[in-house]
Amino acid sequence: MFRAQERKTAVSDVLASSVTIPPHVPASLVWDDEIGRFTMELDDPYVAGARLHQGPELVWSTHGYRGEQGAWMVVSFEAMREAFTDCERFSSVGSAGTQALLGVEWSQVPIEFDLPDQRMYRKFINPLFSPSAVNKRVELVERTCARLIDAFATRGSCEFITEFAQLLPSYIFLEVMGMPRDKVEQFLDWERETLWTDDVMVRLAGARKIRDYLEELIAERREQPGDDLISAITQAEFEGRPITHDEIIGYCYSLFLGGLDTVMSVMGFSMWHLAINKPLQQRLRENPDLIGKAVDEFLRAHGVVVMRRTVSVDCEFRGVAMKAGDQVLLPTPLAGRDPRHFDNPHLIDPDRRDKSGLTFGSGIHTCVGMHLARRELRIVYTQMLERFADISLSDPSGVQYRTGITWGVDRLPLKLESA
Ligand code: HEM
Repeated sequence: MFRAQERKTAVSDVLASSVTIPPHVPASLVWDDEIGRFTMELDDPYVAGARLHQGPELVWSTHGYRGEQGAWMVVSFEAMREAFTDCERFSSVGSAGTQALLGVEWSQVPIEFDLPDQRMYRKFINPLFSPSAVNKRVELVERTCARLIDAFATRGSCEFITEFAQLLPSYIFLEVMGMPRDKVEQFLDWERETLWTDDVMVRLAGARKIRDYLEELIAERREQPGDDLISAITQAEFEGRPITHDEIIGYCYSLFLGGLDTVMSVMGFSMWHLAINKPLQQRLRENPDLIGKAVDEFLRAHGVVVMRRTVSVDCEFRGVAMKAGDQVLLPTPLAGRDPRHFDNPHLIDPDRRDKSGLTFGSGIHTCVGMHLARRELRIVYTQMLERFADISLSDPSGVQYRTGITWGVDRLPLKLESA
């Protein structure tokens, strides 16, 4: 497990001499740090990040998004919810940096679009991920989950991330998309190259591999459509015209990056918590009806992505002057741990009345895959708690996690006692 000393100051008012701070940024809000580094300082990245809640509700991070340039970073739950839902002042255009990275004309659909286009794109895709569409996948999720558990159950131990968490959501996602399961390792490698590092050459190489692969697959499905999401996307129509090539690749690329490892990340953090919180584990085992509530609570407490917006017009946001073009980071891992909004925020309490966090965002871009994600998590906890009378860490020092633009657990060695 990563360890570091507690730092004395969370929000620094000392300006780093090597970075340029725009003149409209007050010195008192300058935070000479970077979210990925700061959250790796203690044993628990969420507790480490929550130190920021002792300071202002938004700061100017000198390192910004992937260290590219300084950016506003929203810290408090209320301010983050306001920024997520205010698409007039905060634009999503270019938010994932696809055009800049790949040098292409297209953007990710719908995540890099504002209204009205975003609404049109969501209208097409929402039914494909609705609760009733997800219901049709439950049997597949249950079967896949049971088979993965079978593979390590008798051994009494597993490395939960590689043997389970990265496989289950990926298999389901690939099935929905109509992509081959046997390439899962390769897809995950490409995704990690694209999302997990700030090294632009590595990211570019990963992004190109994803793009090239999807382009080939799209061409195939246009020729020979199947009963899968990529085929459905290639046949979409908007306002009486057929979908364009740029829209198709934009949808597929966005789903690939959004759907492949986000569920795995939440699953990793919550299973880690469950393995060290025996009373909660026992309570859920004895009361499986509580698992749905526990999943909502795990989600509240474990945001895993940092989203980005661009300020559209010169404006004032929660008393702070912002300029058109300023970048704004929305680190969802901080939102669920804000003591100004949640009492005792680090406590995982299925009975908590208000469990609605910002892990899936908020407003028009709220995650399209959230019903699928929730359902998968519920099935996983139900089966794991049914099959094992005790789940614990087999090697607490072997737990590895990462923070940054996406958060996740990379290694979680578990000891499992059969029920
Ligand atoms: C626990 C798992 C997940 C988490 C934490 C998560 C998180 C998020 C967040 C925070 C957003 C809002 C982005 C923004 O406001 O800019 C989002 C949007 C999105 N997510 Fe997820 N996601 C998860 C699972 C999935 C899955 C399984 C899929 C697809 C199968 C998916 C596809 C998308 C797409 C396409 C969008 C863009 C929606 C739009 O722009 O209207 N996500 N997700």
